[in-house]
Amino acid sequence: MITVRVPAKVNVQLGVGGLRADGFHDLANVFFAVALGDEVTASDSSEGITLSCSGPDAGVVPLDDSNLAARAARLLAAHHGIADPGVHLHIAKAIPVAGGMAGGSADGAAALVACDALWKLDTPFETLLELAAELGSDVPFALLGGVALGRGRGEILEPLAAEGTFHWVFAVADGGLSTPAVFRECDRLRDEAGTGSADSDVPTPDADPALLAALADGDAVALAAALTNDLQTAALSLRPALAATLRAGTEAGALGALVSGSGPTCAFLAKDADGAAAVAAALRASGTCRTAHATYGPVPGAAVA
Ligand code: C5P
Repeated sequence: MITVRVPAKVNVQLGVGGLRADGFHDLANVFFAVALGDEVTASDSSEGITLSCSGPDAGVVPLDDSNLAARAARLLAAHHGIADPGVHLHIAKAIPVAGGMAGGSADGAAALVACDALWKLDTPFETLLELAAELGSDVPFALLGGVALGRGRGEILEPLAAEGTFHWVFAVADGGLSTPAVFRECDRLRDEAGTGSADSDVPTPDADPALLAALADGDAVALAAALTNDLQTAALSLRPALAATLRAGTEAGALGALVSGSGPTCAFLAKDADGAAAVAAALRASGTCRTAHATYGPVPGAAVA
């Protein structure tokens, strides 16, 4: 039996380019791994690839082949020519489902690492990263962890320097948002504004030097000032109530606030651990979210516990 711990992510910068011919958008995506994470336990099974899930959101996690953990196990087995793979994967879920924190991608990355260990395959890390990119744009980062710049559709990763620990709060919404729907809304708003949404209309985004310096310096105030998410307007358009969540966290003393990825989870940067606890408590009392978690990062990627 192998248990793998895997982090969620927040995008401290999410620069979104135009819509490409393949349906994806070029990104300048600064991923940041946080300690709020899932655990995936792999155990031997003679009944093929099976899944179970525990945690407050377990009821909305698909336990069929659409789950990235199952797809990861199947992909790893196929890569090694294993004709009839057997594994039971249990997901202990803490990452909000469809929340913009790459929870499904995290479980896919964790399943790659867990099955690799259970089946004693010793797959090189570079190969695991390639398999992860086949599973989804955010899966390679869940393997890598830390802080990294993701280019292309997010899968081409460059690790970034980050000093010290940053303290975060995540406000969890009722219900998720579909990532493709949020990207479509971003395109629609760009068309409506007259700027156009194709990759020939929108400049290719790049990482913000001030944000990279704030990370390298461990400067939470500077990082808070540099937080940006090009999907935020689209997420707020689909879920206007998130504006009140962002406001509640800011009024409670957060240094900075933004929608996490495609949302609807909202992320707040705090001064220190006590500040994060206070913001989380205020958000829970505000009635603007289902719950709120204080956490920290950066932390490493998927690894055997
Ligand atoms: O790669 P992944 O399967 O996680 O992407 C889910 C969806 O999100 C894609 O089908 C696409 O609609 C959207 N997406 C995008 N550009 C990206 C990443 C994702 O448009 N860079």
